[in-house]
Amino acid sequence: PLATLKQVLDEAKKGKYAVGAYNINNMEQLQGIVNAAAQTKSPLIIQASRGAIKYTEMNYLVHLIKAATELHPEIPIVLHLDHGDNLETVKKCVEAGFTSVMIDASHHSFEENVRITKEVVDYAHQFGVSVEAELGTLGGVEEDITGTVKLTDPDQAKLFVEQTGVDCLAVAIGTSHGAYKFKAEPVLATDLIPTIYEKTQKPLVMHGSSSVPQDILAQINKFGGQMPAAQGVPIAPLQKAIEGGVAKINVDTDSRMCMTGTIRQIFHEQPTKFDPREYLGPAREATTKMIAERMQAFKTAGHA
Ligand code: G3H
Ligand code: 13P
Ligand code: NA
Ligand code: ZN
Repeated sequence: PLATLKQVLDEAKKGKYAVGAYNINNMEQLQGIVNAAAQTKSPLIIQASRGAIKYTEMNYLVHLIKAATELHPEIPIVLHLDHGDNLETVKKCVEAGFTSVMIDASHHSFEENVRITKEVVDYAHQFGVSVEAELGTLGGVEEDITGTVKLTDPDQAKLFVEQTGVDCLAVAIGTSHGAYKFKAEPVLATDLIPTIYEKTQKPLVMHGSSSVPQDILAQINKFGGQMPAAQGVPIAPLQKAIEGGVAKINVDTDSRMCMTGTIRQIFHEQPTKFDPREYLGPAREATTKMIAERMQAFKTAGHA
């Protein structure tokens, strides 16, 4: 059976490690990530965006996750909705068997964010489903909403968790989604994290936390890609964030780049190949290697 986010994050808080929440859209991404969790004995959060749910027609997604739990009953796996937009989406996911949902009403006013989030908490908790919400604004684009950075205010965060009853809180400390997070040096307000944690006593979540490995970027560009000056969050500030109270770290871009780099290289070097297994298989293996490194860096390894 699937674990809930609350179960997995409460353990992470006690053990002072974080659990990566990895986005997936297809079988090879899921297999790559699950194999990394099995190798490193790590608890695992698999998350699906609304886009992923549409892409997989929901059923393929849910049944692929079921396959993962059957093959690896030893690993706690959470199935989580990433950036849920409203109660309707949440209801669909709860009905489909998700054990955790995010409601992201952070672009609304504080009062409206509280109202929408509380409605989701009241619904989801009836079914034992965990809830993540967000306070503050990341840089760049969050799903289809563009915003300028607004760091999470610790006192507001305290009120927010008290008034909503959420299980964990996503904070904005200067990261953004996608591959182009920083123009020059990464600027992150990691100092805010221990203050927010102290006031909320809830596991904190960092979005936009891909590291954008420069070797994978170089591989993509060497074999015909065009991803200029992509830059992500280095591992060191992520580890500092974990020490301060971050227990869930969201990673999507790195997996996308990893598959793309491997596939581009194979297409370039072995242009006669046309069996999908001959490029999706290696892309899956490269995903396992990269995600296993994250599981070591986030200190998730050994906690399954
Ligand atoms: O936060 C966004 C995630 O990276 C999912 O992206 O909506 O393109 O699936 P997506
Ligand atoms: P990245 O784009 O940095 O991988 O962030 C993913 C994310 O926050 C998903 O919610
Ligand atoms: Na936000
Ligand atoms: Zn996100």
